[in-house]
Amino acid sequence: MKISDVLIIGAGVIGLSIARELRKRGAGRITVLEKGKAAREASWAAAGMLAPQAETDAIDDFYELCSGSRDLYPEFADQLLEETGVNIEFDRSGTMYLAFTDEDVEEIERRFTCQRCAGLSVESLSATECRGLEPGISKDVRDGLLFANDWQVENRKLLEALIEFSRIGEIEIIEDTAVTDLAIDGYEIRGARTGEGHLFAAGQVVLATGAWTSLIKIGELALPVQVKPIRGQMICYQQSEQRFQRVIYSPRGYIVPRAGGRLLAGATVEDVGFDTSNTMRGVDALMANAVEIAPDLADADVSQQWAGLRPIAKDGLPLIGRFANVGNLFLATAHYRNGIL
Ligand code: FAD
Ligand code: GLY
Repeated sequence: MKISDVLIIGAGVIGLSIARELRKRGAGRITVLEKGKAAREASWAAAGMLAPQAETDAIDDFYELCSGSRDLYPEFADQLLEETGVNIEFDRSGTMYLAFTDEDVEEIERRFTCQRCAGLSVESLSATECRGLEPGISKDVRDGLLFANDWQVENRKLLEALIEFSRIGEIEIIEDTAVTDLAIDGYEIRGARTGEGHLFAAGQVVLATGAWTSLIKIGELALPVQVKPIRGQMICYQQSEQRFQRVIYSPRGYIVPRAGGRLLAGATVEDVGFDTSNTMRGVDALMANAVEIAPDLADADVSQQWAGLRPIAKDGLPLIGRFANVGNLFLATAHYRNGIL
């Protein structure tokens, strides 16, 4: 029996970030259990946008959580570089949001008014100004917004940095170890059990299990938490050189420029269970949305495609904190479209 002070289940961005923070705050023995390989699920599949303003419909508590997280990123990126030597390619070039149809124009006018009234940094751009900033975008653009404070990060580098931090910080990541249930004694969790009947005993347990959270049982009982997967398919174009400076959204999709001429285009939003396949329909839709933003992409090669499962709760909000009635069980899941943020 392995005894940890803190047992984190799930080695995605959430579990690995919690492990790092706990190490920095002086926690004792930290173990992370992962059913497959570390950092290969939603966190790996993501687009890495840190875009509370481009993704919000309202300035509410959730927006405040997201923008607060964004504001932590500059220091987070610097610290990770110092701690691990890994540059997570944190990029502050901003995000552009484009309108192509009458409905899009109405939508961005509404957003502009709402965000300006709330005192946020948002700039309204004419079609000429949009194309001045990003010459590769379509001549059909009607107008746009610039969110100077919506940024991006190379999420796969972020995961690499967090794994490196774990190595340096003696956080044990145990792969190929799927937890089936939590062993409970009264109101205390004793540890986590695997399908093989192995018990990992722990003082505190954190579920950072993403889209799979509701599959875990407490003893014989279902976890009273509903989290389900929402598939996101993505494609990547390989260009000879990078022609875009910043993340560019339309109401139908987004493109994300990365180092080495890579250009991501995403993403589908599909309620299809735990299926991480790419489909012809999904990939075609992504290409159509990308070409609407940047017509020259019609001639570019799609070099890769993949899909990931976003974890979503019933109300669409993250589930973060101590589990009601069980003192040593914590949840950190259901970050849906904003887990990297
Ligand atoms: P995951 O990365 O899925 O990690 C959970 C881990 O738990 C997995 O490794 C899994 O194997 C493990 N696990 C589950 N059950 C068990 C078990 N029983 N035992 C052991 N291990 C277990 N967010 C943004 O902020 N910006 C974006 O631009 C963005 N773009 C996205 C684009 C796409 C296509 C997708 C799919 C998501 C995107 N997201 C984005 C959302 C973001 O990826 C997720 O919210 C985030 O990665 C969730 O992190 P996580 O650690 O909870 O989940
Ligand atoms: N946040 C981008 C996505 O979930 O597709």
